Amino acid sequence: MKLMVCALLTAALVVNVAPAAETPAQSGAATKSTSATNAGSSAESGSGKDLYVVKDGNKVDAKTLAGWRTWRALACERCHGAEQEGLVGPSLKESLKVLTKEEFHEIMVKGRPEKGMPPFNTSKMVMENWEGLYAYLKGRSNGDIEPGRLTALDGGK
Ligand code: HEC
Repeated sequence: MKLMVCALLTAALVVNVAPAAETPAQSGAATKSTSATNAGSSAESGSGKDLYVVKDGNKVDAKTLAGWRTWRALACERCHGAEQEGLVGPSLKESLKVLTKEEFHEIMVKGRPEKGMPPFNTSKMVMENWEGLYAYLKGRSNGDIEPGRLTALDGGK
């Protein structure tokens, strides 16, 4: 009888252990790695306040203005929201707190097509203005640039 119990216990143990052993592989596939949780890059991304010049919340330097125009022209707000607050795509106000310039560039070029983020490597405007776009989104993320329409610092154009 003792032997019997022992065998049952062993069987129970085996049954319990088996799923646990499989978990790492399963969770690896299921894990959604979002950069927002990547604390390692947050230090590198910095405040980015040196990337743009803004006055009164809506007058910006030429490069940042070109970034905003690119945002509008490519209609990123379709998926990220008019105020970058997030829709089907994540809130870029949050994302830009952690995304480095390099990571941002890579996402612009390659996208994440399997997750609904299109690549913009075929857009000349994005490829020429992605740094201004990064500066603009940094300004939005820092709360220095207001949502909505922007104009040039010097009042022109
Ligand atoms: C068709 C919808 C769609 C459009 C249009 C779109 N995005 Fe996205 N974007 C997404 C989705 C969905 C994700 C999340 C992908 C993921 O889960 O990794 C994303 C992710 C991103 C990320 C990474 C965010 C992070 O935290 O990792 C950045 C940056 C980004 N988009 C910028 C842009 C910019 C700039 C534009 C316009 C030039 C744009 N997106 C246009 C859907 C879109």
